[in-house]
Amino acid sequence: MASLGINIDHIANVREARKTNEPDPVPMAFLAELGGADGITVHLREDRRHIQDRDLKLLKETVRTRLNLEMAATNEMVEIAIKTNPDMVTLVPERREEVTTEGGLDVVAQRIKIKTIIQRLHSHGIPVSLFIDPINAQIEASKEINSNWVELHTGNYAIASWKNQEKELAKIIEGTYKSNSLGLRVNAGHGLTYQNVEPIAAIEGIEELNIGHTIISRALAIGLKDAVKEMKLLIQDPRKDPLFTHQI
Ligand code: PXP
Repeated sequence: MASLGINIDHIANVREARKTNEPDPVPMAFLAELGGADGITVHLREDRRHIQDRDLKLLKETVRTRLNLEMAATNEMVEIAIKTNPDMVTLVPERREEVTTEGGLDVVAQRIKIKTIIQRLHSHGIPVSLFIDPINAQIEASKEINSNWVELHTGNYAIASWKNQEKELAKIIEGTYKSNSLGLRVNAGHGLTYQNVEPIAAIEGIEELNIGHTIISRALAIGLKDAVKEMKLLIQDPRKDPLFTHQI
């Protein structure tokens, strides 16, 4: 059964819309943990559009599950990760003009740079995950440069029409199998919702799903603790039918 990492960037998005001090993602992380979150994920972006350095520092002190720091493969971020010492780092591609992370990291093209960063983080005892598309060449390159995990990008599955969803799901299943067979641990995420999560949660070999936007959206309606609880139930007991969609 996959565990659930909650991405709380979207809480900071609301705060930064007004450049004020609320809502504060730090106590919200605690509520997510009370709801059953197995980990808290934050993306400290270079432009600091949502999560701030202060959030990361306080989350490191207060998160009682696992803190997963998503970040770009840059020297600035590596220094921050070493100083913060999160439970794991997930390297993601980052472009200033994007609304959210678009596509996976091109590990094949940036093999040497990413390998150096992984070595640096490992030398400080920080395990690393690479956010990649479920493509064999990217999975093999991730293994070659000693990543501990890959996080398989579920965005294409999430946006696929019903006709293509099965094909996109098959890519995640095959990517999970391939990664596991090489000895890589597997997480998955991006674009997962209450409607589309169950076929992904049913894939054996995926350790953790990282989910943000849909849970924070639901929390506006019913509160964060219960929104996490509902997602946890879907992940714990998913329907196996890949095209099943759940209506709440
Ligand atoms: N995983 C990664 C690597 C991400 O960048 C994001 C979005 O910040 C997520 C998971 C969560 O995506 P969503 O907010 O669509 O659930």
